[in-house]
Amino acid sequence: MRISVIGVGYVGLVSGVCFAEVGNDVLCMDIDNEKIERLRKGEIPIYEPHLGELVKNNIKEGRLQFTDKIRQAVDHGLIIFVCVNTPQDHDGSADLQYVLRVASGIGQSIEKYRIIVVKSTVPVGTCEKVKDAIRAELAKRGVDVPFDIASNPEFLKEGVAVDDCMKPERVIVGVENSRVEEIVRELYSPFIRTGAPFIVMDLRSSEMTKYAANAMLATRISFMNQMANVCERVGADVMKVMRGMGSDSRIGPKFLFPGIGFGGSCFPKDVRALIRTAEDSGFEFSILSKVMEANELQRTFFLEKIREFYGKKLRGKRLAVWGLAFKANTDDMREAPAIEILQGLTSDGAVCHVYDPKAMENASGLFKGNEAVLFGKNQYEVLEGAEGLILLTEWLSFREPDFDRMKSLMKQHVIFDGRNQYTPKLLTERGFHYICIGRPRV
Ligand SMILES: NC(=O)c1ccc[n+]([C@@H]2O[C@H](COP(=O)([O-])OP(=O)(O)OC[C@H]3O[C@@H](n4cnc5c(N)ncnc54)[C@H](O)[C@@H]3O)[C@@H](O)[C@H]2O)c1
Repeated sequence: MRISVIGVGYVGLVSGVCFAEVGNDVLCMDIDNEKIERLRKGEIPIYEPHLGELVKNNIKEGRLQFTDKIRQAVDHGLIIFVCVNTPQDHDGSADLQYVLRVASGIGQSIEKYRIIVVKSTVPVGTCEKVKDAIRAELAKRGVDVPFDIASNPEFLKEGVAVDDCMKPERVIVGVENSRVEEIVRELYSPFIRTGAPFIVMDLRSSEMTKYAANAMLATRISFMNQMANVCERVGADVMKVMRGMGSDSRIGPKFLFPGIGFGGSCFPKDVRALIRTAEDSGFEFSILSKVMEANELQRTFFLEKIREFYGKKLRGKRLAVWGLAFKANTDDMREAPAIEILQGLTSDGAVCHVYDPKAMENASGLFKGNEAVLFGKNQYEVLEGAEGLILLTEWLSFREPDFDRMKSLMKQHVIFDGRNQYTPKLLTERGFHYICIGRPRV
């Protein structure tokens, strides 16, 4: 099948290359021509495991091409996926300017029947707005070109995005007629051969499903973070509680790890957008406001633990920081808890020597001008002379570090673990003062 993908970010690039991998002829389009130039040379603008080899291989096989011309993209694919960003607007709602700009571009260029599939996360009613924007351009041109619209929210997780795309747990598709359903089903058939459900619904329900899923996941995280805060105060161990409650099949073990709150490009903005959608419909989605509040508090609590340990005297303290990305296996810094925590520490006068296996480049842009954030070469270098280590991202290389080496490098042997990576008893035996989330001191 001939497929076009508009917007070549995390979602567009991964989706495009996975469609190409199963034999489709894919053209990816982005307005960022520098990005397109790099991609043509096989250079990958983001870090995502396995993505590089797949992109290079599919370019070589002639199944994957790149352009910065929307007309070319509209001409190429029977199916056109819209994968542009939908960031948060000033009032919390999703900013649809990029999606609608693409819709107008399609309306200006479309010459024959096309199926426009909105993959970006968009509020209920957006597919209809896209349709209107295309029709408005067709009316301006005085032509009538047939097209259909579909909604196909994306559920990939950064860090395992290729796997999620190649083997989705489910595919959600919102359509207005069975012809589109059949074509989209055929496109996805290689990905759901092992029986993952292909769930078809109307456009609005499909758009809402994505928000419902993200809001539920964010709620689980905030619930567990608050549970951890109570455990800590009453002498219970949240990790044991988590195992116990997660073994109930109605609850399940996933997405229960407590920490320093969720970040990333999706949960915060999607929860805020759903709160806004509910508000606009005349309903106050009060649980979600509390989920966001709890998420913000969690970073503050962690910061307070660090401050308290040093008797509120952080000025001149040399601290090591492991991990900056909002989660492991990505270089994505969008809404990463590290941003707020580092800002807090450095505004109190601490000097932070930071290291992340993949997010250093993105982070250096964010902390430009903050001379108290210094980027190290590796996880051990930043420990030299440190008066404490703060772990913010659960990268595998931080799981089983050389504790003896760490001790010999650090001036003061204290670890603040925002991800509960270590066993308190073992760390205490190794001579570390260990401060984590929701577990009693040993
Ligand atoms: N990142 C994730 O893990 C993830 C997962 C599921 C869903 N989503 C959703 O998918 C959408 C895309 O997310 P992302 O993280 O890939 O975004 P991104 O910011 O990484 O990429 C978006 C791309 O769209 C391009 N773009 C913007 N306007 C354009 C236009 N008019 N024409 C062509 N290209 C244009 C940008 O240049 C950029 O390369 C969002 O709605 C997001 O909420 C993201």
